[in-house]
Amino acid sequence: MAQFDVASSGRFKIGGKEFHRLGFGAMRIVGAGVWGEPADRAEALRVLRRLPELGIDFVDTADSYGPDVSELLIREALHPYAGTFVATKGGLTRSGPNAWHPVGRPEYLRQQALKSCRNLGVERIDLWQLHRIDAKVPRDEQFDAMKSLQDDGIVTALGLSEVSVEDIEAASKVFEVATVQNRYNLVDRGSEAVLDYCEAKGIGFIPWFPLAAGDLARPGTVLDSVARKHGAKPSQIALAWILKRSPVVLPIPGTSKVSHLEENAAAAAIDLSDEDFAALDQEGRAEANKKKS
Ligand SMILES: NC(=O)c1ccc[n+]([C@@H]2O[C@H](COP(=O)([O-])OP(=O)(O)OC[C@H]3O[C@@H](n4cnc5c(N)ncnc54)[C@H](OP(=O)(O)O)[C@@H]3O)[C@@H](O)[C@H]2O)c1
Repeated sequence: MAQFDVASSGRFKIGGKEFHRLGFGAMRIVGAGVWGEPADRAEALRVLRRLPELGIDFVDTADSYGPDVSELLIREALHPYAGTFVATKGGLTRSGPNAWHPVGRPEYLRQQALKSCRNLGVERIDLWQLHRIDAKVPRDEQFDAMKSLQDDGIVTALGLSEVSVEDIEAASKVFEVATVQNRYNLVDRGSEAVLDYCEAKGIGFIPWFPLAAGDLARPGTVLDSVARKHGAKPSQIALAWILKRSPVVLPIPGTSKVSHLEENAAAAAIDLSDEDFAALDQEGRAEANKKKS
């Protein structure tokens, strides 16, 4: 296998399309504060064009990344996608750099899904995820709007982001939940119960911020010693750990640089022993508990 091929991450299937579990998150290919054009547009396009060469055929974006900029760059680099599965999100508005506000009114969600189709240059979106449930709008109205996108052939599959098990159960009464995208990494374990639920139900769990290792990236930790053993960076071990955590985990590390993309892709080939996995798991949980207290 080529050094960078992500084939060893395994595969996952949504809506009849299969892709490698190690994907790419396209939030970092836009400007500072996830706003506007990227500082290095040519490099952002090189990152996207490198994806299929590395076997990365699962790309996650959102209407709000830029806004629009990320979807338009993806289209410029990868359209007509030739086997690449493209997921996007809607439901967060932007009022400037680093500002994110949920809007879950049904007509807005529909407008944004249609805009994403146009931006991405597709008739039907592979996976559309509600970026946040808007607390100002009844949850079921948002779920009904999503179901109508599916019924009308605008999207194939539907997912949620930053939700509880109870939210997933409520949404599942309206449509089949294909994915859940929650913040999760070695040292941020607040969504452990959601991940276990997703595994039991065969729902794809997309952990965002998957590379984080926090203070464990210092010398003398289990993470440090496992990284040395594999000649890898702590962030690569964090990614290998998350891939081994469950077969439904679909990590989407994001970067604006080809060199970082290649490093992240190489993590798919790191085969952690069960002992190292368990020791990392224990150290990560202890670190997460320390942060909580
Ligand atoms: N659903 C949600 O609410 C939500 C929220 C946030 C993100 N997301 C999605 O999740 C994806 C991933 O999350 P994330 O971007 O927050 O976290 P991440 O992928 O864990 O980390 C990205 C950060 O790490 C850096 N990085 C990446 N690879 C690196 C490497 N090999 N060496 C050193 N630094 C590296 C990047 O900077 P460089 O550009 O310098 O590499 C960037 O600052 C996003 O792209 C987005 O698609 C979803």
